[in-house]
Amino acid sequence: MTRDEQPLIGESQTFLEVLDEVSRVAPLDRPVLVVGERGTGKELIAERLHFLSGRWDRPLVKLNCGAISESLLESELFGHEAGAFTDASRSRQGRFELADGGSLFLDELATTSMNVQEKLLRVIEYGQYERLGSSTTREVDVRLIGATNVDLPALADENKFRADLLDRLAFDVITLPPLRHRREDIMPLAEHFAMRMTRELGRELFSGFSTKARDLLLNHRWPGNIRQLKNVVERAIYRHADPEQPVSGIQFDPFESPWRPDSDQDASPLNRQQQALPDDLRAYLDECEKSLVLQALTEHQGNQRNAADRLGLSYDQLRGIIKKHAIKVRR
Ligand SMILES: Nc1ncnc2c1ncn2[C@@H]1O[C@H](COP(=O)(O)OP(=O)(O)O)[C@@H](O)[C@H]1O
Ligand SMILES: [Mg+2]
Repeated sequence: MTRDEQPLIGESQTFLEVLDEVSRVAPLDRPVLVVGERGTGKELIAERLHFLSGRWDRPLVKLNCGAISESLLESELFGHEAGAFTDASRSRQGRFELADGGSLFLDELATTSMNVQEKLLRVIEYGQYERLGSSTTREVDVRLIGATNVDLPALADENKFRADLLDRLAFDVITLPPLRHRREDIMPLAEHFAMRMTRELGRELFSGFSTKARDLLLNHRWPGNIRQLKNVVERAIYRHADPEQPVSGIQFDPFESPWRPDSDQDASPLNRQQQALPDDLRAYLDECEKSLVLQALTEHQGNQRNAADRLGLSYDQLRGIIKKHAIKVRR
């Protein structure tokens, strides 16, 4: 079972408090919302919630709402009858039906349409829904565990997320701290991933990290959090040739290369090779900050949440920078 393969590693006070909260809320038969930046372990926490609940021996069904189109999402969630739409030659069970008696993990909940949100509210409140193309009301008993990396209350304020669904989902909210706010967890996680990768490669021994590698790991911002740490460590282990020497080659960006296509090397002052020193460092850094935020906003069609995510910032931090530089943004 995944539970044995995927132990939850972490020793920081913040992380242990989160685990306590998970243990407290797990047995309650109420929806839970797991909030956190990408890669912070939302899915693993959802699994723990399920396995510590009374539903542990019933199915845990997962669905990423962000990965499929709206119409498909509805039929994935609620199922459909034959002929409900062009491709529906047979009837099919939805995820709610499959999760009956157990838990349903819905990732990237924020991306769901108002229509789907309305149906979700009904099934949470009354345990009732219909398959697409059917008028028969069905009943289910499912505990919903939602996950998101965006600020749902802010979306609700902008009428992009149903406030009543949010109230219902947020019986309890578990917020996972980003890795950069629990630095004590970095080395235990890194060593865990390193040993697992060493084993996977059939090597005898993990020789530890060099001091420099430790410093790099400890001081990185980890915008992609634990998922990114795992990739960086696995890559370092896999490229490490000499088992007698500690692992030292840490590369954060696998795309880093002088031959990278279209990398726009000259566009940003930060990338210029022989950089002339600025006369006013603060003003220079301010200018960089402004230009990079503008670039991120442009790349994400003005979507501030996505731009913040891309830059490893919280939405509020990005808003702060936008304000500071009086950057004009679409509302
Ligand atoms: N506390 C942890 N201990 C060990 N591995 C973890 C921990 N948290 C996350 N991971 C690993 O990090 C990766 C990302 O976790 P995941 O739950 O998918 O994050 P999210 O859903 O928030 O993007 C997965 O490979 C997961 O196994
Ligand atoms: Mg995930």
